[in-house]
Amino acid sequence: MSIMQVDYSTKIPNNVNLGEDRQVLKALEGWHPGYIDWWHDMGPEGFQQSLVYLRTAYSVDPRGWAKFDYVKMPDYRWGILLAPQEENRVVPFGEHYGEPAWQEVPGEHRAMLRRLIVIQGDTEPASVEQQRHLGRTAPSLYDMRNLFQVNVEEGRHLWAMVYLLQKYFGRDGREEADELLRRRSGDEDSPRMLGAFNEKTPDWLSFFMFTYFTDRDGKMQLHSLAQSGFDPLSRTCRFMLTEEAHHMFVGETGITRVVQRTCEAMRAAGIDDPADVAKVRALGVIDLPTIQKKLNLHYSLSLDLFGSEVSTNAANAFNAGIKGRYRETQIEDDHRLQSSTYPVLKLVGGEIKRVDEPALTALNMRLRDDYTQDCVKGLLRWNKVISSAGYEFKLGLPHVAFHRAIGEFKDVHATPEGLLIDDASWAKRGDDWLPSTADGDFIASLMTPVTEVGGFAPWIAPPKVGIDNKPGDFEYVKIET
Ligand SMILES: [Fe+2]
Ligand SMILES: [Fe+2]
Repeated sequence: MSIMQVDYSTKIPNNVNLGEDRQVLKALEGWHPGYIDWWHDMGPEGFQQSLVYLRTAYSVDPRGWAKFDYVKMPDYRWGILLAPQEENRVVPFGEHYGEPAWQEVPGEHRAMLRRLIVIQGDTEPASVEQQRHLGRTAPSLYDMRNLFQVNVEEGRHLWAMVYLLQKYFGRDGREEADELLRRRSGDEDSPRMLGAFNEKTPDWLSFFMFTYFTDRDGKMQLHSLAQSGFDPLSRTCRFMLTEEAHHMFVGETGITRVVQRTCEAMRAAGIDDPADVAKVRALGVIDLPTIQKKLNLHYSLSLDLFGSEVSTNAANAFNAGIKGRYRETQIEDDHRLQSSTYPVLKLVGGEIKRVDEPALTALNMRLRDDYTQDCVKGLLRWNKVISSAGYEFKLGLPHVAFHRAIGEFKDVHATPEGLLIDDASWAKRGDDWLPSTADGDFIASLMTPVTEVGGFAPWIAPPKVGIDNKPGDFEYVKIET
């Protein structure tokens, strides 16, 4: 059997020859019931008996890897899929630069590697937990299907990390795998590991912002782990990235459709000032200033996921050959970074300044900069929708010092423009920049579900094309309760 094809004859679909790897298969089969319990307890609320038009990977060939069909979510075949092994792959950075990539965990870096895998693994079920209520208020069957697609694939990403833990880390790997099913997003006693994954995703605009901004942090992390000298991790992450692209598509097009609908409604009503919030809201659409506030929130929460700008952990992981830079192999330098520097935004004497730091310790900052650049693309699209409708309003990314809980700016307050302000001004103006309770209540008031085939809630435009090229009146979810 070729590595491209996925073996569906075992209980756990895979392309890693689990059929002949009895010990790992046994460990995974032992973990499976707990996963299914977790899915029932913490996965999408309701709709578990509905047929959902989902894609499932049948191959890891980038030219064609998924097939679409109706599946009940609990019957989704969560599998272990690794991208094909590259022949003669070498460690592409760090102290081991140029040495053959490792097929086994190097003993000296075991703890660090395990920690990175656990942190990545923890985010996957967390987002499913955060989004579990959203099916009930889906603005269409199309959107509901996209939500469930993202959810089952995040579940698969958890499997991907659990496979690595169980295959390569022995007993402590198995314990970590169990812990991944025990923590819960937002739980007081055993929360998920990272801040943004303990926040609420209360409505569909949050969901789109989350898939645009927070899944994109995931993309950056997966890209840098895909560079890893530990080859099984690299191959796992490479395949996860193919699935991840759809999650960000859901976010980007979702926000586009909200913005589009708002602009259409404003035009039809003859509204010239998009900042006239009350007038726009009276139309039953989400005003652009509120969309900006949601964007501010999700972007700043996602920036925190990159950790401290200056970090010896990041330097160690790079030196060790465990976690590289975004598109490491395409960067033209020595890939060791022993003597180079990188400009870092820091707080110096009460001012925000750019300071050259050793490139090695500034790796988080660099990845975050790459992330910001990647985020800009969506903003250009959304702003084009707004300007095409004849409005001057522009959505923008807030300054990196705005609303931060981690890193250089965690102890100061800054405006979205990056102006430092005192506590009193922040207390006064905070509601202008972040969604207030009233904003949340208004958005919640729009979240009435639309489950008729081909129907869409009035606050969001239909998509340009269907999933898998299906027509507008396609029944993406056959609801069975
Ligand atoms: Fe994921
Ligand atoms: Fe994702």
